Amino acid sequence: MNRMSLLLPLLGTAALVAAITACSFAATTTGASAERGRYLVEKIGLCWDCHSPRDEQGQFVLDKWLQGAPLPFAPTIPMPWAPVSKPIAGLPGLSDEQALQFLTTGQLPDGRTPLPPMPSYRFSVEDARDVIAYLRQPIAPASPAGPVADPAAHR
Ligand code: HEC
Repeated sequence: MNRMSLLLPLLGTAALVAAITACSFAATTTGASAERGRYLVEKIGLCWDCHSPRDEQGQFVLDKWLQGAPLPFAPTIPMPWAPVSKPIAGLPGLSDEQALQFLTTGQLPDGRTPLPPMPSYRFSVEDARDVIAYLRQPIAPASPAGPVADPAAHR
């Protein structure tokens, strides 16, 4: 067997792997449940606590729901800290693949990690897909105590 006949099947395998990877990237949120994503965002991740602004009375500004906000609290000791959160409605600035990586590993593109107090979530791939599907939708103003459909109904 010459060197070429060994190399060609290897190249073929690499091309196949690349093609499958590309397909799974394109399918990041295919089949995901936005309603279950809403449950994860509102009831589990509590993303609104830092990502929605409050008025001077401490009430949430509902028409700016999940659009980023100055944090109403700060650390009592010196530590790395981001005093302002970012908009997450629509997930601007992250592709589906980047958002999936971020929500499952805590790693942003280029290996960056957000500053505290942004938690380093380790959602399962399935959960992360649901969260992305929900955040990509137009998000209606909500309230933390607002009703959310039974996520079990979407499994
Ligand atoms: C305890 C407060 C807190 C909670 C809860 C929180 N975040 Fe954050 N988040 C932040 C802060 C602060 C930043 C900005 C960090 C920085 O600037 O480095 C941030 C940044 C982000 C970013 C931007 C990353 C980037 O730089 O591109 C995304 C996306 C994000 N959060 C998603 C979420 C999601 C989704 C949830 C809920 C599942 C959530 N966050 C819950 C505080 C929070």
